[in-house]
Amino acid sequence: MSTDSSPLKDLDVLDAERQERYALSDREAITTDKPREAFRSYSRAEDDPVRAFYRLHHRYQTLDFVKAKKREYLTRDRRRMGIWEAMEFLNTLVDESDPDTGLSQIEHLLQTAEAIRKDGHPRWFILTGLLHDLGKILCLFGEPQWAVVGDTFVTGCAYPDSIVYAEFLRENPDSNVPAYQTLCGIYEPHCGLDNVHLTWGHDEYLYHVVRDYLPEPALAMIRYHSFYPWHREGAYTHLMDAQDAERLRWVQAFNPYDLYSKSAVRPDVAQLRPYYEDLIAEYFPPVLRW
Ligand SMILES: [Fe+2]
Ligand SMILES: [Fe+2]
Repeated sequence: MSTDSSPLKDLDVLDAERQERYALSDREAITTDKPREAFRSYSRAEDDPVRAFYRLHHRYQTLDFVKAKKREYLTRDRRRMGIWEAMEFLNTLVDESDPDTGLSQIEHLLQTAEAIRKDGHPRWFILTGLLHDLGKILCLFGEPQWAVVGDTFVTGCAYPDSIVYAEFLRENPDSNVPAYQTLCGIYEPHCGLDNVHLTWGHDEYLYHVVRDYLPEPALAMIRYHSFYPWHREGAYTHLMDAQDAERLRWVQAFNPYDLYSKSAVRPDVAQLRPYYEDLIAEYFPPVLRW
């Protein structure tokens, strides 16, 4: 993969950037081991990997791109594997970050699930924590980072200013299509967020893989967990239907676990595995289509 398509050495950099972005407004914020200056110490803005990442993300995530990726991936004929197997597959994604300090993908999933479990939430909620980033296997199918991670937004309608690095959206070809730049664009007012085309990435992909097996709140958490302009910034109310208000509450309940569950204490994968294998078997068949 060229450096142009992979400005981030480590996908965790995005989580850390969001953590910094929202920490001041979150009383429940748990401090991390990562130095805060890590994301603001670039003498030249162009050297900031998060900025470079969003420049690509916002330039290339067009409505046509999203539709093309849905045609490509939603046939789900790439692999057949169970949930734990998918976790191990995702774990083969090797970031360039220091392997001694970075958490593996499985460790992030287990830390998220364990934090939800400790707070006494229902079993489907714990399971959602375990699964929520499995769509990142898109990286292993050769997708560039900007087609896998990053805050999502709605394509085919006007971009709210609250999108992170919104200035880069000027480089998106859709910004020159008048039909896509009205408030609702190609959508009807209050059409419901399940009926819009969000930017393509791990959230949307995983939603389609698991949608037959999990309750509605879990599906909302999975599909919208990177939709920060909506669940953190309050944008897109004009596209929400009656059910979306409740979905918003669920996604907001999930968000702190995704943002703040990272800790240096590594979960004991072997010790936790039997509990999670049982939980997976409660909801999923042994093999799913990916
Ligand atoms: Fe995620
Ligand atoms: Fe996550």
